[in-house]
Amino acid sequence: MKDKPPSVSAYIREQIEIYGDELALPRPGFTPVVEDEPVNPVELWHVSNTLSELEQGISACQKCSLGKTRKKFVFGSGKENAHIVLVGEAPGATEDQVGQPFVGEAGHLLDKILAAIQLTRDEVYICNILKCRPPANRDPLPGEVEMCLPYLEKQIELIKPAFILCLGRHAAQTLLNSQAPLSSLRGKVHAWRGAQLLVTYHPAALLRYPQFKRETWADVQLLRRLYDEYLHVRQIS
Ligand code: URA
Ligand code: URA
Repeated sequence: MKDKPPSVSAYIREQIEIYGDELALPRPGFTPVVEDEPVNPVELWHVSNTLSELEQGISACQKCSLGKTRKKFVFGSGKENAHIVLVGEAPGATEDQVGQPFVGEAGHLLDKILAAIQLTRDEVYICNILKCRPPANRDPLPGEVEMCLPYLEKQIELIKPAFILCLGRHAAQTLLNSQAPLSSLRGKVHAWRGAQLLVTYHPAALLRYPQFKRETWADVQLLRRLYDEYLHVRQIS
């Protein structure tokens, strides 16, 4: 015949006898020590009211492995309330060193493209789908885009631009949630959360394939025309 199991109080008495004060059961009046690592941390960047608050909230991000390999987090640069936001793919080697978007060779070409439509980078806002450089400039991985996209969405929400210009396939396909080739996404105006979104070739692609410059020229001319109309309507209303 099996022994009757001890009552709970007998069990506890026995445990106290064996372990004394080390008994791992809360006593009345015992206040548990809260570990300083919350199980589900509240992410304060969600409630940022300014770009610099957002930057402070996310620039130590370690949500994907790029956090380990980046030199600098590349948040974005330009005018806080710009009417036009340019979205590229991800920082390259120079951007990773400097911490600013489009400051390498592709960036120099971007400056020329902007100058061709009488814009400077101070009048617009420039950022990327990914804030950290993928090693060896490989394509962004879907998981990296998934982790990083909410940051860009919040950034755009704060800037409230009238226009978004996607530079290259990755930016365009990500924001438009489309698998369509760049050639079919460019040359038209897409509605994106209250903004007009246009697509053109990535300046790095133009360095390799100069034959795309003609279409890029047409794309940015279209942006300039729409922007002028927008400014005109704002002025008279
Ligand atoms: N290419 C990009 O897509 N973004 C940069 O910031 C630099 C190069
Ligand atoms: N492929 C890309 O990834 N980007 C371009 O701009 C053109 C082709």
